[in-house]
Amino acid sequence: MSKSLLIGCGNLGKNILNGFYKKKKRILICDKNKNLLREIRKNYKNFFAVTENLEDVSFEKIEYILLCIKPQHANEILKIISQKIEQKIKIISFVAGLKDKKVRSFFSHNIEVIRIMPNLLLKVNKSTTGTFSNNLSIYEKGKIEKEFSFFGKLIWLKEESQMDFFTAFFGGGPAYLCFFFEILSKILLKKGFNKKLSNELVFILANGTLEILEKKLNFDDVVKKVASKNGTTEKALNFFKKEKFSLLVSQAISKAEQRSKEIAKDLL
Ligand SMILES: NC(=O)c1ccc[n+]([C@@H]2O[C@H](COP(=O)([O-])OP(=O)(O)OC[C@H]3O[C@@H](n4cnc5c(N)ncnc54)[C@H](OP(=O)(O)O)[C@@H]3O)[C@@H](O)[C@H]2O)c1
Repeated sequence: MSKSLLIGCGNLGKNILNGFYKKKKRILICDKNKNLLREIRKNYKNFFAVTENLEDVSFEKIEYILLCIKPQHANEILKIISQKIEQKIKIISFVAGLKDKKVRSFFSHNIEVIRIMPNLLLKVNKSTTGTFSNNLSIYEKGKIEKEFSFFGKLIWLKEESQMDFFTAFFGGGPAYLCFFFEILSKILLKKGFNKKLSNELVFILANGTLEILEKKLNFDDVVKKVASKNGTTEKALNFFKKEKFSLLVSQAISKAEQRSKEIAKDLL
C-alpha cells in the first residue's frame, strides 16, 4: 500500500504500523502527538515518514487514506482533507460509527470509502474484521484483503448496517469470553485457590478446550463428550438452559448492537 497516509497513530494505528513494517511497506504517518512521532522515528529507525500537521501533507500522490482517529475528530479531519483532495481517493476508515454516507458528504467528487472494524485480536493476527464498501471493485477488494491479511480474518459485509452487529459481536467478543473466564476464576477463588492459580487454571481449561476444538470444529460434539446422561455436567447445563442463559447472551449482544447504532447516529 504505497502512497498511503495513516492519520492517527494511537492504539490501533500502532498495530497497523507494525503490520506494515513487518511487510516492509512504507506509509506516511500523520499524528498530532509529537512524542508519539518521536517514538515511531526511533523504534522504526526512520523507516516511515512522519508529520504532525495534516495541513503540511501534499496529497497529490496519495491513493489511500487510513483514518485511525477517534470519532470526535472525524469532522475536523475530513473537512481538511476534502479541501485538499481532487483525485478519486480511497478512504479506509477504522472510525467506529462513521458511515460511508457521512464520509462522502464532505467531498464534492466521487471517492471510495472502505470501512474496516478489527478487534483487539489483531495484536495476535486473529481479528475477525468486518469490512464494508459500497462501490469497490473485486480487484480493489482483493488488494485490501492482501494488505490487511495480518489482521486475521476479513469478512466483507453485504450491508453497512451489519457493521453494528460485527462491532457488538466481534468487537466485544474478547471481553465477553474474558467476562465468563473471570466468573469461573472467581468460583475457584471462593473454593480457596489463590488468584494467580485460579486464573492460570481457567486459562489451561480454555486453552485445552480450544486445542481439542481445533482438531474438529464442533462445539456440540465437545458438549456431548463431556456431559454424560444424568451426570454432573448435564445437571449444570440443564440449569443454564432453564435460566435461559443463551437468551441472556443474545440479548446482551443485541444491546451492544443497539448502542453501536446510537453512537453512529450521534456522528451524523
Ligand atoms: N483501538 C482499537 O483496537 C480499535 C479497534 C477498532 C476500531 N477502532 C477505531 O479506531 C479509531 C482510533 O482508535 P484508537 O484507539 O487508536 O484511538 P487513539 O489511541 O486515541 O488514537 C488516535 C490518534 O489520533 C491522533 N489525532 C487526533 N486528532 C488528530 C489530528 N487532527 N491529526 C492527526 N492526528 C490526530 C490522536 O492524538 P491525541 O491523542 O493527541 O488526540 C491519537 O494519537 C477509533 O475511531 C476507534 O473507533 C479502534
